[in-house]
Amino acid sequence: MDEFKLRNGMSIPCIGYGPDSLSLMAKYPKNGRLVNRVRNKIRKELIERPQYVEMLAFTLKSGCRLIDFSASYGDGSLIAEGVNKSGMKREQVLYTTRISNRAQYDEKIEQEFESQLRGFRTDYMDILMLHWPVTDYFEKTWIKMIELKEKGLCRIIGVANCNSHHLQRLYDISGQYPEIDQFEVHPLFTQKELVSFCVKNGIQVEAYTPIARRDDRIYNPPLMKKLSDKYHKSITQLILRWHIQNGIIPIIRSMNKDHMRHNLDVFDFHILEEDMKLIDGMNINSRLRYDPDNCDFSAL
Ligand SMILES: NC(=O)c1ccc[n+]([C@@H]2O[C@H](COP(=O)([O-])OP(=O)(O)OC[C@H]3O[C@@H](n4cnc5c(N)ncnc54)[C@H](OP(=O)(O)O)[C@@H]3O)[C@@H](O)[C@H]2O)c1
Repeated sequence: MDEFKLRNGMSIPCIGYGPDSLSLMAKYPKNGRLVNRVRNKIRKELIERPQYVEMLAFTLKSGCRLIDFSASYGDGSLIAEGVNKSGMKREQVLYTTRISNRAQYDEKIEQEFESQLRGFRTDYMDILMLHWPVTDYFEKTWIKMIELKEKGLCRIIGVANCNSHHLQRLYDISGQYPEIDQFEVHPLFTQKELVSFCVKNGIQVEAYTPIARRDDRIYNPPLMKKLSDKYHKSITQLILRWHIQNGIIPIIRSMNKDHMRHNLDVFDFHILEEDMKLIDGMNINSRLRYDPDNCDFSAL
């Protein structure tokens, strides 16, 4: 798989896999959260656990070695099982985890990080991010993350959901920008200004929700169908390739082997500059996920 270089010289795969938290909670209304947490856990144990582990092992064996996770998705033990099942060595895989908002509010960064290490069955994390720039807390969290890096417990520190003013604030208090910022990017929401800020300051961008969860506004327009015919690639493959050619690492989620095999088959073609611009032109600033400048961090 092709790779990008981080500003510290380390190589990073240009596609990542985000198996997520099994995502069932999102299907239920907020006020049913507690009941559904229990239901979720039971279902996860009985039905989804083997599928999750199998899917992760399959994705690793198919060549995708960058794994995206967060303490708010669980303890990481399923990731450890998936890696074990794949037969890969720990060093062959790049683990990402994020610090939850809960740990930021409780100021329990080290405790949560240690529990992630135990769950992942490892003694270091490759990439540690903060999940959200929680107002009044994210600066303190960042300083703790720098300490964890200095102790050799993680190789790269980054952030998620940070806008340029958050990134600048972290630089102002610590003299260093995060090495990675992961935020929502797809053709309906290209975030060009934020991406440019990152490029200018040596911050690698990772895109979450990279195919906009197959939003009809991307998948239906004749333009995308036309490009799909022109390149003999699906619309999903075109979008993933568009991210990579823009220097962005898409973090894709799938629980379907055929889909994932297809998602990784994006290295045998090149989108022409004029067509890259056409895809860029689909932007309508339509955010599908939460806005870090206008959300309730305690509910995430
Ligand atoms: N930092 C953050 O705050 C944050 C927020 C959101 C997400 N993330 C990360 O980003 C990852 C991906 O984001 P996302 O889940 O929001 O959206 P996404 O990757 O844009 O969309 C996932 C959906 O696309 C489907 N899909 C994937 N490949 C497909 C294919 N080839 N053909 C048809 N359908 C396909 C999947 O279904 P199937 O299972 O059926 O393939 C799934 O329903 C997450 O897993 C997580 O790691 C991070």
